[in-house]
Amino acid sequence: MNKRVLITGGAGYIGSHTAVELLGAGYDVVIADNLSNSDISSIEGIRSITGRDVDFVEVDCCDREAFARVFERYEFDSAIHFAASKAVGESVSEPLKYYRNNLLSLINLVDLMREYGRRNIVFSSSATVYGEAEQLPVTELTPRKSATSPYGNTKQICEDILRDSVAAYGTLNGISLRYFNPMGAHPSALIGELPRGVPNNLVPFITQTAAGVRECLSIFGDDYPTPDGSCIRDYIDIVDLARAHVAAIERMTGGRSKSSYEIFNIGTGRGVSVKELVEAFERVNGVKVNRRTAPKRAGDIAAIWADTTLAGEELGWKAERSIEQTLDAAWRWEKRIRGLK
Ligand code: NAD
Ligand code: WQD
Repeated sequence: MNKRVLITGGAGYIGSHTAVELLGAGYDVVIADNLSNSDISSIEGIRSITGRDVDFVEVDCCDREAFARVFERYEFDSAIHFAASKAVGESVSEPLKYYRNNLLSLINLVDLMREYGRRNIVFSSSATVYGEAEQLPVTELTPRKSATSPYGNTKQICEDILRDSVAAYGTLNGISLRYFNPMGAHPSALIGELPRGVPNNLVPFITQTAAGVRECLSIFGDDYPTPDGSCIRDYIDIVDLARAHVAAIERMTGGRSKSSYEIFNIGTGRGVSVKELVEAFERVNGVKVNRRTAPKRAGDIAAIWADTTLAGEELGWKAERSIEQTLDAAWRWEKRIRGLK
């Protein structure tokens, strides 16, 4: 069996951590990334952590001809598709950028996998496809809601493209992993999240505020119908999330019957409020995070967390790292990139 995996977007946050876990599990990887939202230093980080060589190709997955050369050059049976634009707010102001990049990169990948006789595709989906669910926690059978942003819509459309391609062509396997809220960094602090500009996501905003890069964290909303009035999410450690991809690849390459499409929630199964998360960060790291209550952010839902039974039963995967371990790693990563002690 060929043990190489193509990782599109593998220089990015989730892709680089997944590369580390795949290499640790005995796979080889080839990373294809156009570095539009990442830095080549993450490839060095992967090499340092694993002591393994990593093939890296700078390529835009939307450029079919250039992308095809990766298939010409490398043998692999499986691909994990991270390459996408991911800022919800920007997707509202620049929808075509999101539809073009996120849809075209997946279409090219599926098409080339088919053309070159490669079989297995893991797709990075998101809990955003559930919108505001009527019942919590959400299972994979919870109906998707109409997307509230072009970004969310691309995730729904991409899931459907993969589902329909698997059904039509008979040669592909597909797994969509619906990530909840990824956070943290590799325990070595050699790779982590590198948001450009002002972070949209909560944890990088917390770590940057603690580091003095931002003055004050705004907690969006304090009268949500939750115990402390702030929103509830399911924060999943980045290393646990990366391991879920290894489990998905193992399922697809483990001799299961061909041509199936499956969906798995990847979260902890626990809801944590914004206030609880900030307090946990302060407690674990012994630092203060300046904060204030701010108006609600448009489009936020009050609460969502995952039912992860299916991933446990079928992938044999569950989240293992504690919130304390995750917040410790997040802070050590932030300190390292800021040159703080
Ligand atoms: P990221 O921006 O750190 O990584 C994405 C990588 O893809 C970057 O390295 C970027 O340079 C690359 N890329 C983008 N367009 C490309 C293209 N056309 N060709 C080649 N490379 C391209 O983001 P991430 O947080 O690691 O997210 C990875 C995937 O997971 C994305 O699909 C994202 O939508 C999805 N996701 C992320 C989250 C999250 O909160 N981080 C949650 C749910 C789903
Ligand atoms: C988490 C909570 C905010 C920043 C988004 C995408 C989703 C997925 C993950 C890609 C919310 C609150 C945040 C801040 C705050 N990405 N918050 N102050 O919105 O759950 O999900 O990222 O697929 O698609 O929508 O994550 O980290 O932005 O926010 O109070 O400065 O933190 O209101 O309750 P979200 P987030």
